Amino acid sequence: MTKRDFLAMEDWEPDLIDHVLEIAARCKRGEITGGLTRRVLAMMFMDPSLRTRASMETAMFLHGGHAIALEPGRGSWTLETDLDVVMDGASVEHIIEAARVLGRYADALAVRVFPKGGDWSVEREDHVIRNFARFCEKPVINLESSRRHPCQGLADAMTLREQLGETQEKKFVLMWAWHPKALPTAVPASAGIAAAHLGMDVIVARPPGFDLDPDDYRAIDELATRRGGSLTVTDDLDDAIDGAHAIYPKSWGSLGHFGRPDDERALREGQRDWRLTQARMRSTEGGRGIAMHCLPVRRNVEIDGEVLDGPNSAVIDQAENRLHAQRGLLLELIG
Ligand code: CP
Repeated sequence: MTKRDFLAMEDWEPDLIDHVLEIAARCKRGEITGGLTRRVLAMMFMDPSLRTRASMETAMFLHGGHAIALEPGRGSWTLETDLDVVMDGASVEHIIEAARVLGRYADALAVRVFPKGGDWSVEREDHVIRNFARFCEKPVINLESSRRHPCQGLADAMTLREQLGETQEKKFVLMWAWHPKALPTAVPASAGIAAAHLGMDVIVARPPGFDLDPDDYRAIDELATRRGGSLTVTDDLDDAIDGAHAIYPKSWGSLGHFGRPDDERALREGQRDWRLTQARMRSTEGGRGIAMHCLPVRRNVEIDGEVLDGPNSAVIDQAENRLHAQRGLLLELIG
């Protein structure tokens, strides 16, 4: 039997995603406790985390399993990711051996590896996470790669269902937000895919020059259409927010300027007004639209503090749902 990896939400059939979300909801209600006894999850954090690491470790513990977290270069060997390299530089171990060895100890391997800001035509292939999946004999779970953050997407879908009930034909605004740094597109792409899975009308509001990758738009559009929703892309933020049921502000860098930080910063600099304010929340559907964010968030930069602390904020529930969504995922994958 071929192993199942979880590298992108859209790789799995929608019925299976719904099944995982149903298990997640049952876990949250306390209806499922065990299921992972003597199961081991190995995690490779090549980039930092608060929620992903803490929620994965907690998920394994709650169901009787064990999680190992490794940080290459900080207690475990520095890792080489280039397949054709002559390893006479700083890296000590290759991901080929790391993936094969961890696959012998653990029932699944979870990996976080962000893009490194070189050439987007290379980074967009998501080679590192795909090579972990290629060389590990056990399922590989994506904990955020260059292109996708599917565990965040599961939690986003779970939160939207909890908060909105019926999601079909409801308006989900993925809003570009200003940020001092050029951030990756994995979270916004995955959030759009999560809303598309729910059959929502997905509106991507971004300034000119800040489009997601064409493949991201295609993935959102195809899934939204299949599930009864739609995709619209606009640069009119206030029109997009008018009557919205959910707003997901998130910053991402210009892919057209990927690897050229000075040019990218100049394009971004004039856009500081792209921020979720209380006034903008008032123009959501009945003033009751929800504000979402994957966290970490820069207060009063991406989202105003009064929105984050206000009654429309779903960000803490969303972070809690990382735990339950991953409990559902782990039970499905290795339970
Ligand atoms: N949302 C999210 O992935 O949080 P961390 O980066 O803290 O894991």
